[in-house]
Amino acid sequence: MKKLNIVVCALLVLGACDFSFNERKKSEVEHEPQTWETARPLQDIYKNDFLMGNIISPRDLGTVRFAILTRHYNTLTAENQMKPDHIAPAAKPSNTNWEYRFTEADRMVNAAIEAKMKVVGHTLVWHSQTPSWLTEGTKQTVLANMEKYIGDVAGHFKDKLIAWDVVNEAFRDGLTSSDVSGGKWENCLRTESGWYKAIGPEYIEKAFLAARTADPNAKRYYNDYNLNSPTKSQAVYNMVIDINVRHSNLIEGIGMQSHHHLGTDPQTVRDSIQKFASLGVEIAISEMDIMAADGGALNMGQWSDSNSKRQAALYAAMFAVFKAHKSNITRVTFWGLDDGTSWRATNYPTLLDKDYNLKPAFFAVTDPNLF
Ligand code: G3I
Repeated sequence: MKKLNIVVCALLVLGACDFSFNERKKSEVEHEPQTWETARPLQDIYKNDFLMGNIISPRDLGTVRFAILTRHYNTLTAENQMKPDHIAPAAKPSNTNWEYRFTEADRMVNAAIEAKMKVVGHTLVWHSQTPSWLTEGTKQTVLANMEKYIGDVAGHFKDKLIAWDVVNEAFRDGLTSSDVSGGKWENCLRTESGWYKAIGPEYIEKAFLAARTADPNAKRYYNDYNLNSPTKSQAVYNMVIDINVRHSNLIEGIGMQSHHHLGTDPQTVRDSIQKFASLGVEIAISEMDIMAADGGALNMGQWSDSNSKRQAALYAAMFAVFKAHKSNITRVTFWGLDDGTSWRATNYPTLLDKDYNLKPAFFAVTDPNLF
């Protein structure tokens, strides 16, 4: 009997120890810092609002980066590999059978689709990252080049993409209100573009028509930066009205790239979203990041707790705007998985630091109300 009592007592003590241990463990877990693996996936948080996207490069395939992408995002855009300088032949082909370089893009698109993600094509017609021979020659030659390129490339990815950035960054910066008054848009275009030089303003409409023929199911977007500028957004608005009046629903969406800095006023973003929504087109926030600097770039070493908090607050304010316009916004894509590999790495513009730790900006996106 005495022995039994000792055993029961021992069990009770052990049980008590175990109980307090479990309690301690639970509270530790509750206060454990969240990681990309434990934090609720961004794509789940916004599943009733819009798609959540990020960019992909070949280095992401088969690495931890792809695991982060598939956990938090449901949509991918190739950072560089679907641009003409990656896909088009480097030199002018001597016949009509152009040998494209699809290998890298195919690997990324197929991996994304296998992971049940959606893919956006970026981009068909751009003044930059485009082999020069494509835009050299007479108007007729260059137009034929453009139509063939779009036909072949959009045809190659047919039915695999949810959207194409058909034309990218056609408008120049620094537009005045008189530039955009009276519905004019042709005189607001970037004149240094090889496409513009050879074909004139009509290259935009022709590009959208060719994209519609090649892959009618991929939504056709016009994509640009600084679209929170009242004048640049007005020029784009004028163009969409003009082209869509002549060709119903030809331009189906506007991609607001959204490369911001701490000085961006979220009200300007809201105003442009409302302006574009009134056109009846889709809106994608297509390349979002926020440099932790007030205007220009940060100097190395300027990153501080205060930058970090201000950046988080601005991400929260932006997402509050996006949520309020979720019926018009189809997707929010970030331009960079982490600060280490961002195109603006020295300006710490993304949600994760270079070691993939979650920054305050990440939590601002997960719950804008807390900031
Ligand atoms: O691939 C070469 C590599 O072989 C070489 O060793 C290296 C040396 O600099 O350059 C590599 O190419 C770079 C390429 O990115 C791939 O990393 C180019 O120099 C560099 O200019 C290029 O930058 C890209 C930029 O577009 C080009 O315009 C950025 O990664 C990409 O994030 C950026 O994305 C654009 C969007 O397409 C359109 N909107 C703006 C956005 C940011 O600029």
